[in-house]
Amino acid sequence: MVLITGIAGYIGSHTAYALSQAGFEFVGMDNFANSRKENIDTLRELTGKDFKFYEVDMLDDAGMEKIFAENQIDSVIHFAGLKAVGESVEKPVLYYHNNITGTLILLEKMKKYGCKKIVFSSSATVYGNPAVVPVNEDMPTSTTNPYGSTKLMIENILKDVCVADKDFCAVLLRYFNPIGAHKCKKIGENPNGIPNNLMPRLCQAALGITESLTVFGTDYPTHDGTGVRDYIHVCDLADGHTAALKKAMDSTGALTYNLGTGNGYSVFDLIHTFSRVNGVEIPYKICPRRPGDVPAVYACPDKAFNELGWKAQYDLEDMCRDSWEFIKEATKNN
Ligand code: NAD
Ligand code: UFG
Repeated sequence: MVLITGIAGYIGSHTAYALSQAGFEFVGMDNFANSRKENIDTLRELTGKDFKFYEVDMLDDAGMEKIFAENQIDSVIHFAGLKAVGESVEKPVLYYHNNITGTLILLEKMKKYGCKKIVFSSSATVYGNPAVVPVNEDMPTSTTNPYGSTKLMIENILKDVCVADKDFCAVLLRYFNPIGAHKCKKIGENPNGIPNNLMPRLCQAALGITESLTVFGTDYPTHDGTGVRDYIHVCDLADGHTAALKKAMDSTGALTYNLGTGNGYSVFDLIHTFSRVNGVEIPYKICPRRPGDVPAVYACPDKAFNELGWKAQYDLEDMCRDSWEFIKEATKNN
């Protein structure tokens, strides 16, 4: 049985669906800090499975104990965590406590119940401002904000656990920039509060919720001056977790993989592709660079292909179309 922490979130919900399609049995937990309760009903409908769900905060020792006591958990996919970079700068203690303490409690339960397999949601943010792109898994790591530091610390904690227990396996997945949504239009990224990331903000401008999209900087050393990232369809990312879980089942030690497409697209590339495939105008205004942003980050995805047999299938047009279809549906009755 797989435990999915943070199952109600954006990537967790897509992964739960992918796991279900691949025939895995799972239980889920979430405290809805950044997601909606309805997502669980939607997932049960989509998967056709009445999987067990626990509304528990991972900081709640007794709540976590109950999950492990009531289920034979042999692996964990660990999504639960707070992820807003700006908020992490304002509230570092909240981020360290939630992400790090939460993971430590999870690891204590895993140890107590003999569960030795974990797939962890790390991030390309651990590459800091890379000296060269594409980035591969052996490149140096550094962080520029508390959120990123929690990711790097958890990677290191998991590596130490693997050293101490030779049967333990931790697969560390460094995600690049997930966008898009499942074709059913029922799960996708619809964050609580004001979004930070480009795609949800672009959608808000397209819907007229905001007056315009702010483009943060046109003076980067990139092909059109705007920031370049490796956007990856969330369904590709979800499939990467199925592959990673299978790998964890017959491996030991800490294994690190980039999950990206290997393509770098700029803010203007995204705006223009979105407008073209969806037939909507994106009003935008150009502003100075956002502090902390790096010019260009994209993945070398070869290791994931060679060792997990995983490769992204969707292109930027698919991502733009699916993001738009989902958000139109999600905001239809607002
Ligand atoms: P999300 O916010 O949609 O999902 C995270 C889920 O964890 C939410 O449902 C939230 O309610 C839950 N959660 C947070 N703290 C919790 C706690 N203490 N107890 C129980 N549940 C808790 O985010 P996402 O985009 O699905 O990201 C999933 C993971 O991937 C996160 O760890 C995130 O840091 C990481 N990640 C995301 C991105 C991205 O751009 N989306 C990039 C790299 C890494
Ligand atoms: N951008 C804009 N306008 C906006 C928002 C973003 O121009 O309103 C630009 C940024 O300057 C950047 C690009 O769009 O060039 C992407 O920005 P995002 O905020 O969408 O993503 P980041 O690459 O900055 O960060 C994201 C996550 C981090 C994660 C990182 C690497 O937010 O949590 O990807 O995975 F660590």
